[in-house]
Amino acid sequence: MSIKITGTGSALPVRAVTNEEITHLVDTSDEWIRERTGIGGRHVSTGETVASLAARACGLALENAGKSAREVELILVATCSPEDVTPCAACQVQEQIGAVNAVAFDLNAACSGFLFALHTAWAYVESGIYQNALVAGSEVLSKIVDWEDRGTCILFGDGAGAVYVEKCEDGGILGFVQHSDGSRGHVLSGACRALENPFFHQEQTKNYIKMDGREIFSFAVRQIPKTIEEALARAELSAGEVDLFLLHQANRRIIEGISKRLGVDMDRFPMNLERVGNTSSASIPLLLDEINRKGALKPGMRLVLSGFGGGLTCGACVVEWQ
Ligand code: COA
Repeated sequence: MSIKITGTGSALPVRAVTNEEITHLVDTSDEWIRERTGIGGRHVSTGETVASLAARACGLALENAGKSAREVELILVATCSPEDVTPCAACQVQEQIGAVNAVAFDLNAACSGFLFALHTAWAYVESGIYQNALVAGSEVLSKIVDWEDRGTCILFGDGAGAVYVEKCEDGGILGFVQHSDGSRGHVLSGACRALENPFFHQEQTKNYIKMDGREIFSFAVRQIPKTIEEALARAELSAGEVDLFLLHQANRRIIEGISKRLGVDMDRFPMNLERVGNTSSASIPLLLDEINRKGALKPGMRLVLSGFGGGLTCGACVVEWQ
């Protein structure tokens, strides 16, 4: 038994921000950003929230699957940038879409969050606890990005993607792996509010994303091909038998490095980072939805979804489309 994706949806904030606009904030250029990352623009929230974007994406995924909100049994929202500690974004989504029969909670594994949430949904369905789930990745990173740091503010964007998954007997998720390495957490970090109470005082620091770009770059290029090979081995497939590789949209050069190491042509690595930048946990379902809505996915096609990010975390999942 497994789960199959029967609906996809996505949502982006209205405001699109070009590289040229970023040059008014920090010392950079459109040429540098495009050459080093492949990013040409991103969408930035002017009021949209993690929950409102996720709710839009989930609503579209349900519509795409031909299901009603009342049928949903589980809602998982992966996010590392929620507005509220409580209620969690997933409960807000439940309320906004009217999924009155669902249980809902959030999950945070940074940019690997959507994949980890998808695997969690698989575990719930496989064990017979639930029959279906809405799984979303949603981020409003613009509130935790340091807009004075040219090393990070050029990279990230806001947005959400979601899938509706249901129990299936054949196909669907054929194999997956996930890894965490907490000893390297400092490579990509974003602090919460400092400890401050009547009994303890700690200096407040800027709670922005901090990143060692080169470390992340080499982690992704070295670790992701191995992780994909591991997931493919579990599915008893080789890289040559995969139709499309949908990777976390962090940097075009990272994806090129991974394609080279896997020995697979770049035309099997669709990308949307030129328009949306790195949307963290939203990036894989956002890309999947765009491809699905173009009608590019046919039954029997094999996809690899793979992501990496803060934690450090990474994962890969092999899917047979139905
Ligand atoms: N515009 C212009 N120059 C910039 C710049 C910017 N936005 N950001 C950095 N630079 C400069 C640096 O200061 C450095 O200058 P120096 O040589 O005078 O010191 C030079 O460009 C090279 O910096 P470096 O950090 O080596 O660049 P890079 O080629 O590694 O590219 C990243 C930087 C961030 C684009 C790249 O490392 C990357 O994409 N890493 C992965 C990050 C990521 O994906 N994070 C999210 C993971 S989920």
